[in-house]
Amino acid sequence: MSLRSSPARYGSLAQGLHWLTALLIVCLFVAGNVMDDLAAGQKLTVYRAHAVGGITVLVLTLIRLVWRFMDRDRPELPAGMSGPMRFAARGAHWLIYLLMLAITGSGIATLIMSGLGEILFMGAGRPIPDRIDVPPMDAHELFATLLMWLLFLHIAAALYHHYFRKDGVLRRMMPGR
Ligand code: HEM
Ligand code: HEM
Repeated sequence: MSLRSSPARYGSLAQGLHWLTALLIVCLFVAGNVMDDLAAGQKLTVYRAHAVGGITVLVLTLIRLVWRFMDRDRPELPAGMSGPMRFAARGAHWLIYLLMLAITGSGIATLIMSGLGEILFMGAGRPIPDRIDVPPMDAHELFATLLMWLLFLHIAAALYHHYFRKDGVLRRMMPGR
């Protein structure tokens, strides 16, 4: 499979970035929702891992966006899709990119504004506060909920294309010849 995409399927770099990001985001959702309730010892480790994993998603998304503009020969949307469906599919993909930038940006802003960054990475020696009360934290929660719903729709759409429309949309995002 070639690094670059072709009209028939996504290349290995686009696929690798897609599936690695997907895996990280699922782990970050789970960690984000449980880490608040962990015992003090585990808390520091999981908060650190969440922040490092989140920043990795940001880096991967920036690489992905740059590569998206360099890798021009990508698969088109299936021919049978109506105008409004095309608009919805393109809009949803861009909204996912936008939310990945917004959620990672708000996470980093939370770390800076709440002083959590010093606790996690600069050995400040203070315990992690029970409530993190800075405006980007509210935004982070909102973006996490929006992204989760959008990804639910995204996965449902991928499965619908695969099992009902049988138009090869899922296969071209999978390794193969
Ligand atoms: C959970 C995190 C996920 C994220 C953040 C994500 C994000 C994206 C984005 C932004 C695109 C657009 C690619 C582009 O044109 O630049 C895309 C394409 C795609 N994704 Fe996902 N995805 C995720 C999970 C999944 C899962 C679990 C599936 C399969 C069930 C899936 C199936 C696909 C397929 C088939 C395409 C290609 C669509 C097409 O060719 O038009 N994705 N994904
Ligand atoms: C794709 C990337 C990310 C996802 C999917 C994600 C997801 C989540 C979720 C679901 C929560 C729980 C929100 C709630 O309480 O309802 C959370 C909390 C949090 N996230 Fe993220 N996050 C991401 C990136 C980041 C980054 C880059 C940072 C910082 C560098 C960060 C820092 C935090 C912090 C400090 C909390 C608060 C935990 C608490 O409640 O005490 N996140 N995240």
